[in-house]
Amino acid sequence: VKTSLTGITPTHIPHIGNYLGAIRPALRLSETYRTAYFIADYHALTTVRDPAALRGHVHDVAATWLACGLDPEKTLFYRQSDVPEVFELSGGRAGVTATGQRERGVAYKDALAKGEAPNAGSFYYPALMAADILLFDTDVVPIGADQKQHVELARDMASRVNHLFGEGTLVVPEPLIGEAPLVPGLDGQKMSKSKGNTIPLFEGGKKLRKLCMSIVTGSETLEEPKPAHGTTVFEIYRQFASEAEVRALEDRLAAGNFGWGHAKAALYELLERSLAPARERFVALRSEPAELDRVLARGAERARQTAQATLARVRARIGVR
Ligand code: TYM
Repeated sequence: VKTSLTGITPTHIPHIGNYLGAIRPALRLSETYRTAYFIADYHALTTVRDPAALRGHVHDVAATWLACGLDPEKTLFYRQSDVPEVFELSGGRAGVTATGQRERGVAYKDALAKGEAPNAGSFYYPALMAADILLFDTDVVPIGADQKQHVELARDMASRVNHLFGEGTLVVPEPLIGEAPLVPGLDGQKMSKSKGNTIPLFEGGKKLRKLCMSIVTGSETLEEPKPAHGTTVFEIYRQFASEAEVRALEDRLAAGNFGWGHAKAALYELLERSLAPARERFVALRSEPAELDRVLARGAERARQTAQATLARVRARIGVR
């Protein structure tokens, strides 16, 4: 059986970009793959520096995975910081990683481009992420397109280690980019917490309606026919709608006398309805943080056994004890 692994950084309640780009495709693999899905709390340290907030975000993400259908009996489900083996693999492998590879990392380059003093966290970010992946002998990593480069770095690192220490020392992972590679946000840019353009996955009611109505659209008049493909409203709509609903919206937009306001209202109705069951489960799960911690602790125990087995193999191959 092949292994699918992915992680979410706990900086907020996941938004529909996280859901469509990673969570939903990852959960779809859980029937046919061995799965390991985790909460990358150390990765959050580059932005979250409030311990209580960080713990809260860990619970947000844990409750999200479970509300969306993750079964912790089937999937290794854990918190990154509960698996310290990640740091041994990440640090130990530093001896064979060229710094140039790290300097090309997108997170590091973003920080430089924004004129921020790039902290070592964003420099080591891809190395840590590679260790997350390689430690579990991961074959595929379901992610959005924004994380592709990081997985490619992990691939390069694994290949390099295998070249030096023999094939099979590490499994070479592949990014798995699904049908929603880069979900657009309210302003049409990539949906991203840092851009303030998100639709949080579990928003509902008036707030959700307001968010949907604020999506930026074309300036066609009510009468004019409108394109569907490539527009934010349609691209989000189609991810949740049935084929018949997708065709109906396309047709209405093409026919004219159907305004963007109507399309946005249709999107709101669809999101309200299709996410309602998960939203209810989220609220219930999120109100029991101690139970979430128990689930994660049980997952961590199992995750560490797997991690230790990989490390033992790698240590033997490279000649350390
Ligand atoms: P993070 O927390 O930023 O994002 C979580 C997942 O959501 C995807 N995503 C999107 N997909 C489509 N459209 C969007 N607008 C969108 N925004 C976000 C991301 O691609 C990602 O798959 N570094 C990672 C966490 C991580 C990880 C790992 C992932 C740490 N170690 C090992 C995979 C494997 C991150 O910060 O993702």
